[in-house]
Amino acid sequence: MAQTAEPLVVLDEVNKHFGELHVLNNINLAVATGEVIVVIGPSGSGKSTLCRAINRLETIDDGSIRIDGQELPQEGKALAGLRADVGMVFQSFNLFAHKTILENVTLGPIKVKKVAKKEAEEEAMALLERVGVANQAHKYPAQLSGGQQQRVAIARSLAMKPKVMLFDEPTSALDPEMINEVLDVMTSLAHEGMTMIVVTHEMGFARKAANRVVFMADGRIQEEAEPEEFFTNPQSERAKDFLSKILTH
Ligand SMILES: Nc1ncnc2c1ncn2[C@@H]1O[C@H](COP(=O)(O)OP(=O)(O)OP(=O)(O)O)[C@@H](O)[C@H]1O
Ligand SMILES: [Mg+2]
Repeated sequence: MAQTAEPLVVLDEVNKHFGELHVLNNINLAVATGEVIVVIGPSGSGKSTLCRAINRLETIDDGSIRIDGQELPQEGKALAGLRADVGMVFQSFNLFAHKTILENVTLGPIKVKKVAKKEAEEEAMALLERVGVANQAHKYPAQLSGGQQQRVAIARSLAMKPKVMLFDEPTSALDPEMINEVLDVMTSLAHEGMTMIVVTHEMGFARKAANRVVFMADGRIQEEAEPEEFFTNPQSERAKDFLSKILTH
C-alpha cells in the first residue's frame, strides 16, 4: 500500500474520446479519504464514463488516474487488485442469477482474495445483516425485490473491502418505494466514513450525505460546490438550467 499525502482518488487532466466525441474533457478531480462526492449532470455528459474510467472499465486517452497514490494498472493481477480496491454499484444490479445471495457475496472474497469459505460466509452474513437482507441469504436474486437486490450488490462490493465505492445511478431502476431503502444504506456508509463517488439525481441524498457536488456537462466539470451552495446558488447557466429542469419534476 502506498503511503502518500495525496487524496485517495486523483484524476489529473484526464481526456477521453469516443470517436469525435470528447466525452471526458480535461477532468481534474481529487477525492479525499472519507469524502463523499455526488456527480450530477445531464444525460450524455460523461458521468458513467467517468466512473468506468476510475474502475478502468474504460481506458483513457491521456492524463492520469491514481488510487491511493498508484497509477491505474493496465492489466493482469494488478488490475484485479484495483477492481477489489474500487467497488462499483450500477443501475442494474448485475447479481449472478444462478447463485444464491450468500454465494454472490462470498464469490469475490473466495476467488480473488483467497479467503477461506467459512470466514467469507461469516463476513458476508454480517454485511447482509448491515444492509438488511440477511434473511434472504439462501434465496436467488430473482426472488428478491429490486431494492433488496441492489442492497445485496452493495454488500457484494463491500465484501471486497474497497477503498472507494463508485455508484452509478444506483436507484434509477427502482420503484419509488424501494429508493429510500437503498439510499439509507448509502447514507449510513457515507456516515461511517466510506469514500464514495455517487452519480445520482437524488437531491435528498446529496444534501444529507455529500461533502461536494460535482456538476458535469459536455464532458467537463462545470462547477463544484457544497450541496447546499450548489442547489441554492448555482453559478453557471448550464447548472441553473439543469436544476430548473430536475427540481420542477
Ligand atoms: N462505448 C461507447 N461508444 C461510443 N460512445 C459512447 C460509449 N459510451 C458512451 N458513449 C457516449 O459518450 C457520452 C457520455 O456517455 P455517458 O454514459 O458517460 O453519459 P452519462 O452522463 O452517464 O449519461 P446518462 O445520464 O444518460 O447516464 C454519450 O454521448 C454517449 O452516447
Ligand atoms: Mg450514465
